[in-house]
Amino acid sequence: MSTAAPADIQLDASGRLRHFLTVEGLNRELLVRIMDTAESFASVTAQNVKKVPLLRGKTVVNLFFENSTRTRTTFELAAKRLSADVLNINIATSATSKGESLLDTIRNLEAMHVDMFVVRHAQSGAAHFIARHVAPHISVLNAGDGRHAHPTQAMLDVFTIRRCKGGFAGLKVAIVGDILHSRVARSEIWALNALGVDEVRVVAPKTLLPAHVESLGVVPYHDLSEGLRDVDVVIMLRLQLERMGSAFIPSEHEYFQRFGLTGRRLEKAKSDVIVMHPGPINRGIEIDSAIADGPRSVILQQVTHGIAVRMAVMSMTMRAGSDMEAAA
Ligand code: NCD
Repeated sequence: MSTAAPADIQLDASGRLRHFLTVEGLNRELLVRIMDTAESFASVTAQNVKKVPLLRGKTVVNLFFENSTRTRTTFELAAKRLSADVLNINIATSATSKGESLLDTIRNLEAMHVDMFVVRHAQSGAAHFIARHVAPHISVLNAGDGRHAHPTQAMLDVFTIRRCKGGFAGLKVAIVGDILHSRVARSEIWALNALGVDEVRVVAPKTLLPAHVESLGVVPYHDLSEGLRDVDVVIMLRLQLERMGSAFIPSEHEYFQRFGLTGRRLEKAKSDVIVMHPGPINRGIEIDSAIADGPRSVILQQVTHGIAVRMAVMSMTMRAGSDMEAAA
């Protein structure tokens, strides 16, 4: 599957979001509009009656070919809070496991008159592939494809940073851990640079950094204490052991000794640093429990923000965004 032409397929002729496949190629203005829309939904999710009728009568299909807890459930909640009907396809018990092709699965679901596919797939480019083949009224949202992109995760991360820090100018952000296998890191790097942070650092052993990583617009570090010096935001990443074919690290214990986030190491960062993690976290491997559960951690706020951000992207791709104020 090809990942070519990521930006154009997801915009309509007037530059509005039709699919949400990657943040790569999207401009600052659009990223800000997603966050502003999410901001108005954040208050909806906080109130007693959590629903708005923007997607009433629409059907959203969660098509997850890879495991997920947070992403799948927050997409489901987002769709339900927009009053959509939601179908969760369990791939393990679906006809895909009997050999049906991806395109045949899509064609059959299309025949049921659905309106949106939320797709997670182990293969990079899967969401683009589906987007290229669906009927014109259907939107496709990428919920993570291989090592390539995880755009709603990146958007909920920058939304969390904006809420905690008030903006992006002057910020130094360190992304720490398994950059090589991380679709989250790739999407975050693009979003942070497009939003104008001062510096994005990637901190990892050489074996877990892609070749020529500087070309992505980051400064690489191989020493955690150095990489954390004076940063405003630390984003920790999980070791993607399921994507590691061979030995990338000597041992988990040794990895924690060198790259695990501890209180002592965090002292190098600014005193008001925030600690983020897309989850699932591996306590004692990339992050000490005292930090994950401590006062600098915003990890659970990220989960909450995932709902508002996914509501924003769903409503924007369904062209419902402009009706939102009237409905709220
Ligand atoms: C991430 C993913 O699946 O890419 N998790 C998530 O969506 N919350 C990161 C990970 O699995 O480590």
